[in-house]
Amino acid sequence: MPAKSFKRTLITSALPYANGPVHIGHLAGAYLPADLYVRYLRLQGRDVVYVCGSDEYGVAIVMRAMAEGITPQEVVDHYHPIIRDSFDGVGISFDNYSRTSREIHTDTSQDFFRRLSERDEFVLKRDEQLYDPEAGVFLADRFVRGTCPLCGYEDAYGDQCEQCGSSLSPSEIKNPRSTLTDAVPELRPTTHWYLPLGDWQARLEDYIKSHREWKPNVLGQIRAWFTDGLRDRAITRDVLWGVPVPQEIADAVGVEAKGKVIYVWFDAPIGYISSTREWAAKQGDSERWRLYWQDDESRLIHFIGKDNIVFHTLMFPAMLMAYGKYVVPDQVPANEFLNIEGSKLSTSRGWAVWLHEYLEDFPPDLLRYVLASTLPEAKDSAFSWREFQTRVNSELADILGNFVNRALTFAKREFGNCVPPLVDPSATDTEVIEQLSIFPERISASYERFRFREAVHQTMGVARLGNKYFNDQAPWATRKTDRVQCANTVHVSLQICAALSVLMEPVLPFSAAKLRSMLRLEGVRSSLPGSSDAAGIGWAEAGSCLLSAGHVLGRKEILFSKVSDAAIQRQIEKLESANVSQGPPYAEAKPTISYDDFAKLDFRMGLIISAERVLKSDKLLRLQVDLGYEQRQILAGVAEHFEPEELVGRSVVAVANLAPKKMMGLESQGMLLMAEDREGHLALISSESEPGAIVC
Ligand code: MF3
Ligand code: ZN
Repeated sequence: MPAKSFKRTLITSALPYANGPVHIGHLAGAYLPADLYVRYLRLQGRDVVYVCGSDEYGVAIVMRAMAEGITPQEVVDHYHPIIRDSFDGVGISFDNYSRTSREIHTDTSQDFFRRLSERDEFVLKRDEQLYDPEAGVFLADRFVRGTCPLCGYEDAYGDQCEQCGSSLSPSEIKNPRSTLTDAVPELRPTTHWYLPLGDWQARLEDYIKSHREWKPNVLGQIRAWFTDGLRDRAITRDVLWGVPVPQEIADAVGVEAKGKVIYVWFDAPIGYISSTREWAAKQGDSERWRLYWQDDESRLIHFIGKDNIVFHTLMFPAMLMAYGKYVVPDQVPANEFLNIEGSKLSTSRGWAVWLHEYLEDFPPDLLRYVLASTLPEAKDSAFSWREFQTRVNSELADILGNFVNRALTFAKREFGNCVPPLVDPSATDTEVIEQLSIFPERISASYERFRFREAVHQTMGVARLGNKYFNDQAPWATRKTDRVQCANTVHVSLQICAALSVLMEPVLPFSAAKLRSMLRLEGVRSSLPGSSDAAGIGWAEAGSCLLSAGHVLGRKEILFSKVSDAAIQRQIEKLESANVSQGPPYAEAKPTISYDDFAKLDFRMGLIISAERVLKSDKLLRLQVDLGYEQRQILAGVAEHFEPEELVGRSVVAVANLAPKKMMGLESQGMLLMAEDREGHLALISSESEPGAIVC
């Protein structure tokens, strides 16, 4: 329970980057837990608004655009609807899902920037950064590649070497190149705005101290940050994709505004505010968002994955405090990570279960249930398709589905599809009714403490209670010997079904609705947006007998079909076939070139006539290559991969029109094509054609 009582709650889930679809790791981290909680609150009749949106700025999106040869706007326009529809398909019930490329977000972010700047909350620093003179832009870390100073890997990123895993800074990279133009970057001075987070440490420590109820995994990370000491954070970048730094602010300090944008981690959390503003406008009350953000009686809760903790517990709160009048996060229930089939989820290796693909094969509730039962709340947890099958078949189908099915079958067969009356209930009947009445509060305690796995388990407890009661009462026997007792059993069982149809709503909203229609149970409060009115049957009423004697039931349907071995096998095969072998991921695809660019290259088949080592070089071999129309000396950096003898007599593809180049005092008159795999193994590219044959 929150220490203080709040009038309303604003819930957020981390804005997903719109540079790829969402997978079940995302779902288990920040979306499903939020949705469980939000639906639970709505059933409680509480005033809650749940916002999210696509995070559309940042270097990751620019990189993806480059890799695909399209614009960043095209990238986000492609992924935004895919992400939005997957969330919709799995029943994530946002009140609003926005995008950070919208104008309302630019406005809100710039307003933040202005106000903090006016309040003197920023510091300006002039610094040297790598600049691409050909493209005329500063290069963010990922746009610089070069040789790793630690392991010598020649294609390391400016901020990280994928060979040895070291994190680097662009200035330590040897032979740096721009990935945009291949030009050699130069250091140029540039000015950036910083949020002096160090100055906030004392205030942030006080703030965090007032939240001892936060999850240990969250507090643990925060403590480590404090111990390290908070540092100034640059909150602007020199890129062409992002919320522009307001012109007049740049002018006032004599900084060129063009090409200067607000850092994505500054604008993205403000996306929560702009999404709430958009929601309010859609409600026809543009100012209504302030109630949720700027009123002391509002509770702000951020659902995130553990990689976002620092931004939500330190940086964003500092921003909100610096602005003034905003509430600060009251809870940040961050989750750990979800592994898949025992291995770390990795999108670059294809080791992921994509939501939009899942939805093509199975109903959303099955995944909601299985993930909710195994959420990585306290530590990393694992998803496996076998466990998915077991939980669906032996819990959803065999316990919940089977109980509902038996109760409804008996009502139909024995009592004309009506709720039979409860007459002279036995001690067991009364006790079960009594037990049922306790469940809403018990499950509620788990939700209020953000223990959703426990909440799901408690909810299934209702079905287990029903199943056991039904078995013990054996209505198939009493239907002949004691009609009254049989009727009582069916009556009580149907009340349990009705309770379930409300209590399982947060976890299994689609099936709960189906169950209510099978029971013809009406007047239950909705867990969907815009329906937090206190009327109707809600959470608190769920444990009381909701069906009256004589109530006519609806048509029975199957709640959960079992998942077959074959269906699971298909999923496992799909996962495995997408999974590329272990090792560092391959470099991103290069930008698209025109056919004319391609046609400039003269590829020829060549035959290696001789090969020898080059004196004082570990890397180079000196090859004589017959190109049919002439013979060339080619120096190839393959001495660590091939013995000279192995190469003689091999056919290769050569680039025949490459300008000659001097290496170790020798001229290289061309280049050989090779394939390099992720482990760094080289293979020649050969064919059966004769030397000189044109490769086209
Ligand atoms: N896009 C970020 C991620 O996927 C999360 C942004 S959360 C927000 O890691 F607070 F900045 F919105
Ligand atoms: Zn390295």
